[in-house]
This record gives sequence, structure tokens and C-alpha cells, in this order.
Amino acid sequence: MLHKDDMLACFLNQLFFSKAIEGMMREGGRRVCIILVGLLSLMSIEAYEVGLAFLDSAVAQGAVCLDGSAPAYHMDKGFGAGIDNWLVFFEGGGWCNNVTNCLARRDTRLGSSKQMLTTETFSGMFHNKPKYNPDFYDWNRIKVRYCDGASFTGDVEEVDPKTNLHFRGARIFRAVIEDLLAKGIKNAKNAMLVGCSAGGLTSILQCDNFRSLLPATMKVKCLSDAGFFINAKTIIGTSHIEGFFADVVKTHGSAKVLSPACTSKMSPGLCFFPQNMIQYIETPIFLINAAYDSWQVKNILAPGVADRKGTWRECKLDITKCSSAQLNILQGYRQEFLKALTGFDNSPSRGMFINSCYSHCQTGIQETWLRNDSPLLGNTTIAKAVGDWYYERSTFQKIDCPYPCDKTCHNRVFE
Ligand SMILES: *[C@@H]1O[C@H](CO)[C@@H](O)[C@H](O)[C@H]1NC(C)=O
Ligand SMILES: *[C@@H]1O[C@H](CO)[C@@H](O)[C@H](O)[C@H]1NC(C)=O
Repeated sequence: MLHKDDMLACFLNQLFFSKAIEGMMREGGRRVCIILVGLLSLMSIEAYEVGLAFLDSAVAQGAVCLDGSAPAYHMDKGFGAGIDNWLVFFEGGGWCNNVTNCLARRDTRLGSSKQMLTTETFSGMFHNKPKYNPDFYDWNRIKVRYCDGASFTGDVEEVDPKTNLHFRGARIFRAVIEDLLAKGIKNAKNAMLVGCSAGGLTSILQCDNFRSLLPATMKVKCLSDAGFFINAKTIIGTSHIEGFFADVVKTHGSAKVLSPACTSKMSPGLCFFPQNMIQYIETPIFLINAAYDSWQVKNILAPGVADRKGTWRECKLDITKCSSAQLNILQGYRQEFLKALTGFDNSPSRGMFINSCYSHCQTGIQETWLRNDSPLLGNTTIAKAVGDWYYERSTFQKIDCPYPCDKTCHNRVFE
């Protein structure tokens, strides 16, 4: 972790000593430095960097990344009243559905800990200052790097020597929790499983498994950020995501990890969709999702294969560029999204914050988690809704009015 003094040094170096900058660039410190300068110039430290630790002990259990390397995570220790509380976050990054695509990611940061960036930005829900993160700032905060390609659900014993691909995400999941148990989580009072995107799907699919790995005396909850991927057809009416998820589950041998209550009723591929299994989750869970999730619009509704002419290109990059016909289709997608949520009943242990922004992942970034201009629903920030729900000060189950009614959104614009 970098301290304030380092940040200041970095800032001063940037300002006055170009020689020093060259030195830092050679040492690979450039990214960190530029981030810090950017933030300092805003006169607030909204984020900081935490180093990477490798879980070498997991290798013996075969809990490894796609390329066989050790899993890895970033941890910022809890302090004060928070030392017995644990926030365990699983990173996302899409999926690989077959050998060809898994080979393509094997030697990238999403398939190998040898390729991962050695520091990670902690911000929003992971910040260590109460001003930025009032309810979880002093918890132990862990960010587990994604390197298996199947939302930490895979478990295939065989390794084809020709590809050296390991499908072991579920083993990584267990190995991480066991490692944390040894580090003190076994005495913990509070724990929350968190994830965003493919990791947000982990929070849903593995929620009850997480609960079962922890002592019964602990208060355990799950939070999924942008993990509610729906089984919808494309703009040309074709089925795309359904076959893709079926391939992911088949390639990675994920069926064993999925909800038995679901897999006894339908195919394991369908049980990879939250809408088909969320009703069976017993552990309290909170969903944060944009009804117009930008990843889903780009990859479920209007993937390249369904938009050969590129009619949707501009609209997918920037929702303000969508034609009125396209907006109608997006409103239809929202309706499908809300329909898929119907299995999610109104039990007070369950929370939801479904806003009408064009976004994807809103907890790990200060501007969407908690800032004076961050998204609101029912006049409530995501940070407050989640904190109130976790600590049972109040429940929160709200769905936003349709786009473009919400003026508090930070809509993503892609380049
Ligand atoms: C792997 O999946 C991709 C994306 O769905 C598909 O285009 C490709 O044909 C598949 N490859 C094989 C060998 O099945
Ligand atoms: C929204 O919340 C703020 C801060 O808590 C409060 O000052 C304001 O009056 C509230 N607005 C509405 C419309 O409830």
C-alpha cells in the first residue's frame, strides 16, 4: 500500500523533477503515480493502491488459474472495531466458454497470476476512510483476482497436456475462504461476499456455499453488483447468451457447484442464470444492478453477431446516441430484466437497488458508491442502501423509473 507521503512525493516529483519521472517509469511506477496525481489534483484521495499476494499454498490442492499459476488477491487489513469483519470481493472479467477462448485468455491477467498488475485500486466500498465508506471502511477488505474464466465455479480434474488449461475456479473459491479462515475469519462476526460483473455472478451462485464454509455464529450476507445477467434474446431474436453460458458450464464442469434445487429441475447451463436459481438462495442477498446494464446491452442484447451492420455501435457506446427505435428496444429489455427479478421475493433479508443508469458495476468506484453527486434511488446512495441493509437499520428494495428519468446517473460512455 502507498502512503500519503509517497503520494505527495510522487506528486512533487511529477511537478518539478522530470528526471525522477523517467526513473519511476523505468521502475513501473508510472500508472500508480499518474493515478495519484490525478486524484491529488482533485484535492481528495478517493482511491489508493494495495499490493498483490499470491496464494501459493492453494497450488497443492489444484486450486489454480487457467494456466496453472497460483491464485492471488489484494488485502487491506481491518482495524479498530472492524478487525472481526470481512468483505470478500471476487473480481469479474467475462467468461471463456470453450478451449479456443480459454486458450486466448490463458496467458493474460484474466488467466494467469503471472500477468496480473501488482497493485489494485481500492475505492468506494473498499475505501479505508469513513468519509468515503462509512459502514465498511474498517473491515478486512479482500479483492480476489479473476483468473479462471467461469465466475469461480469450475472444477475439472483432468488437464489436457496439449493446452495445459486448468478449469478450477471453484477450487480457487474454496482455497481463498480456507486461507482467510486460517488468517482469522474463523473468529469473525461479520462477513460479506461481494463481486462485480462475472464476480457479481459468483456472489449469487456461490452465496450459500460461502455461508456453509463459515461458522454458523457469524452474520453472513452476499452482495451482487452487476451480476444479474438475464437470459434474453438478441435484437434479431436469436438465442445467444443461453448457448454461451451452457458452453461455459460444460467446459468448466461447473454443474457440481450450482444450486441442486435448480439443477434437479433444468439444465446446469440454465442454472447459471440468477433468475432460475435465486429463489433457492437462503443467505441474505442484495442486488445492485442497472436495468440497462451496459455489459448486457453490448453482449446479450446487441452482440456483434446480431448486429453485423453495426447499426447499434453508437448506441451501445453512449446511450444518448440511441435512436427512438433503439430506446424502445432498451425499454423492452428493462421489462424483461424486471420480469426476471420476479423470483426474487420481498423478504426483508433481501435487498435491491435497480437503477436506470447505463452502467456496469457501481460499488468499487467512489463516484457511484458515495459522493455528493453519486446515483440516488429513493434519495438514497448505494453506500447507504447497502449499509442499512447489512446492519438491518432498514430494508431497501427499489426499482427506478424508466430511462431517462433519473438525473443522478453516471452513464458510461465508451470510446
Ligand atoms: C468457441 O466459442 C466461440 C464464441 O461462442 C465460437 O465463435 C467458436 O466457434 C467456439 N469454438 C469452438 C472450437 O467451439
Ligand atoms: C434527500 O436527502 C437529503 C440528504 O439526506 C435531504 O437534505 C433532502 O431533503 C432529501 N430530499 C428529498 C426529496 O427527500
